[in-house]
Amino acid sequence: MSHHPIEDSNRSDKRVFWDILDASLSRRSVLKGGAAAAITSASGLSLLGLSACSSGSSNGPGEIPEPRLGFSAVAKSLEDRVVLPAGYSASVLYALGDPITEGLAEYPNDGSDDGNWDRRAGDHHDAMAFYPLPKGSQNSDRGVLVINHEALTDQYLHENGPTDLGEGVRPLAEVIKEQFAHGVGVIEVARSSSGWAVDRSSDLNRRWHVNSPMEISGPARGSSLMTTPLSPTGIDTFGTLNDCGHGVTPWGTYLAGEENWFAYFTLDGAGDDTPQLARYGISSGATGFNYRGWDTPAGAANLQRRFNASRTGASAANDFRNEPHHFGYAVEIDPYNPDATPKKRTAIGRCSHEGVWFAPAVAGEPLVAYTGDDSRNEYIFKFVSDTAWDPADATLGLEGGDKYLDTGTLYAARFNGDGTGDWLPLTPDNPLLEGMSAAEIVIYSRIAADRAGATKMDRPEWGGVNPRNGEVYFALTNSSSGSSGRGQGGAGSQPRDAANPRSYTGGPDGSLDTAAGNVNGHVIRWRENGVQDAVAFVWDVYAFGARANYPAAINLSGLDDSNDFSAPDGLWFDKRGILWLQTDDGAYTDTTNCMMLAATPGTVGDGGSFNVPGADGELVTTFIGDAPGANLRRFLVGVRGCEITGVEATPDYRTLFVNVQHPGERGDLTDYQSSWPYAADATLAGTIGSRRPRTATIAITRDDGGEIAI
Ligand code: FEO
Ligand code: CA
Ligand code: CA
Repeated sequence: MSHHPIEDSNRSDKRVFWDILDASLSRRSVLKGGAAAAITSASGLSLLGLSACSSGSSNGPGEIPEPRLGFSAVAKSLEDRVVLPAGYSASVLYALGDPITEGLAEYPNDGSDDGNWDRRAGDHHDAMAFYPLPKGSQNSDRGVLVINHEALTDQYLHENGPTDLGEGVRPLAEVIKEQFAHGVGVIEVARSSSGWAVDRSSDLNRRWHVNSPMEISGPARGSSLMTTPLSPTGIDTFGTLNDCGHGVTPWGTYLAGEENWFAYFTLDGAGDDTPQLARYGISSGATGFNYRGWDTPAGAANLQRRFNASRTGASAANDFRNEPHHFGYAVEIDPYNPDATPKKRTAIGRCSHEGVWFAPAVAGEPLVAYTGDDSRNEYIFKFVSDTAWDPADATLGLEGGDKYLDTGTLYAARFNGDGTGDWLPLTPDNPLLEGMSAAEIVIYSRIAADRAGATKMDRPEWGGVNPRNGEVYFALTNSSSGSSGRGQGGAGSQPRDAANPRSYTGGPDGSLDTAAGNVNGHVIRWRENGVQDAVAFVWDVYAFGARANYPAAINLSGLDDSNDFSAPDGLWFDKRGILWLQTDDGAYTDTTNCMMLAATPGTVGDGGSFNVPGADGELVTTFIGDAPGANLRRFLVGVRGCEITGVEATPDYRTLFVNVQHPGERGDLTDYQSSWPYAADATLAGTIGSRRPRTATIAITRDDGGEIAI
């Protein structure tokens, strides 16, 4: 079956409505509080007013010159090495199992290690951020790198893979090792004439893992829904789990986003099922994809075995029915203070959090941050602080979180079919949320967003705010498994809509088959109406992922061999305004390993509207930005079986840190499929099958010492 695109607008007719509105409407006066008058453009688009973001603020966006990409795109690759543009090199900085203190043996990487996983690099390095040393400086040669350790490649962690002692019972020592290998790593790193290295002698080095003491903060703190045997008052909590994306706060701390935490839990039987657990993916009869039997070892303490949420006791104080309420948050960590107890900032909601991405902080204005919920058919959220930003707080540490993240308004996004959008308040005074307390709204923010009428998205991954203009970008990685619609909630159950318009199955030769979803994902973006904390916005799609050889009905952004990608996941704006996209893909991996691209994006509204056909022939109108062309280029291709995730630069942009996550993930102990990074340098291939592959952070530099990417 083939499909033909039906174009209904001139895509080169740029910037008409937005710019006119920009010029004609004043800031804040008509926009705040949802009272804006709808303005109907000549095309019939109903748009709320817009104005330039925060002009006149010394901290605000809009004053950064447009960057220009200065490297040649690399080709797609299936090799077991990191491919970089000509003139760039990389070295391995921090790999699975590396000691982060002195006096530990090097990692043998055969499962025979000595334990001590609370003092070694965890697995599956994910998001990360660099905090210069000394604190408050812009030093680019020494700093603290904070890195999420999302999950495990179990088959390589233990001597013979995970052990099942019978009927799913796991050995306690393996469970503890697995719990310690998750979480967040804090390491001091420094650059010398021989390159970047971890300073194992630093007092700042710290591992936060599944059993580390932490605290509940914000509206859920002290709620009876947080009562457990380990937290009788609902204030104490333990550990962080499946940390994926991150946030960098304006006050110098780090936020780790707890993503697929639900999949570590189990229930004994149908009597333990509740609608609230089900809405978060926990139900009896099937264990989640991250379930590792942590609740099963003989002799395990409550701290280790609390991942069975069944109602086995007389009350919540006697069993772990409420333990799932302790995960799914943004966890604040102070990279400069290893003794500060991390806090779970519940006001930002509970979901499969990716990260928390702040708009540039503007003195005297509320702080605004965005987060996504990465599961099928889930939502994008926005948090607006009650407290206005004071630039004097730039090095405040965790007290900053107390001040700015514990009180505020959480919103969920509704993307309307006419190119506008609305932020729906998840507050007790929203009539649609009648009966939900402030604590229930943040603990069950998915349910609150359901009731408020938010738009179900094609799996929201990472986001970022363009520092040049305040526009917000979010990766929507893909959707799958529908027969006549997007179908993320089951075959055909979710109709396509303007913001999630594609549904198809693509063959490697460019042929298209029956619809199965948005196989290659897209990147959506929006511009807030005049101020970052506005309650309405206009949106379009920055780029649709696709194979370059797909027909225009699918390759809607005209990608070519220099920039075609699939399944955008990691996303980051650096402060120069360069947009970085990273992929975690399974749909294009017959042709290329996962990759990272760099872009100088345009602006919302620089393209036009377009009718996208579905398999049933029905057309859905969406809005697509100007084709990125050479302003989007492939910068890096990873090794076999890896995901590329996490990217950070030193303040001088002369070093770029990137994570190569789970190389050889689909291999086993008889066929590793990758032996990266066992080679002379990070870009060179190892010998397949010779060593178990390891997740690692690499440091990329330009051979001439110049700034990365420009
Ligand atoms: Fe861990 Fe949704 O990426
Ligand atoms: Ca990811
Ligand atoms: Ca992944």
